[in-house]
Amino acid sequence: MSMHDDIKNILLTKEEIDKRVQEMGAEITKAYEGKDLVVIVLLKGAAWFATDLTRAIDLPVRVDFMVASSYGKGTVSSGNVKVKLDISENIEGKHVLLVDDIIDSGITFAAISNMLKMQKPASLKTVALCDKAERRVNGLDADYVGFKIPDEFVVGFGLDYAGDYRNLPYIGVLKSSVYAHR
Ligand code: IMP
Ligand code: MG
Repeated sequence: MSMHDDIKNILLTKEEIDKRVQEMGAEITKAYEGKDLVVIVLLKGAAWFATDLTRAIDLPVRVDFMVASSYGKGTVSSGNVKVKLDISENIEGKHVLLVDDIIDSGITFAAISNMLKMQKPASLKTVALCDKAERRVNGLDADYVGFKIPDEFVVGFGLDYAGDYRNLPYIGVLKSSVYAHR
């Protein structure tokens, strides 16, 4: 049994993702020229996207990580965002980009943005590789979005189901039979 067998269809190929990430890096490079940029990566999911994105940004950047969790084992946000690992960089007066793998309800970005704003960054913008806009509960929009995707549960390129499938090199829709068996 290969993990690929659990995928109903591939939504975004590795090549499509790589190309789009390069474009996003170029756009961010233009926008932040001459500014002190700190990229904050939401672990674990955004790690795969962020390693590529930061290398596509042709500016001196500092990188930091946060672990926030609201999901538990299910496929919908619990709405209760907890910080399990905080940043160690001082972001006061810095331009901050908060990076996640996907924006869904918008609860994670809203909660973490509010926490980071208390540390007085010069600016704070959000970056998501994928955006399920239909699912938003709070009207929040990410500032930089890789791909708008339909409302289906996706895995790969960092995105997981209960911790699995993050290392798939593409983003695919998980077969619904997979959740039923857990
Ligand atoms: P939000 O707080 O509902 O916007 O959700 C953001 C978080 O939900 C992301 O960090 C993901 O970990 C997770 N998430 C949302 N949709 C998916 C999906 O389709 N596949 C895997 N993870 C998802
Ligand atoms: Mg996740």
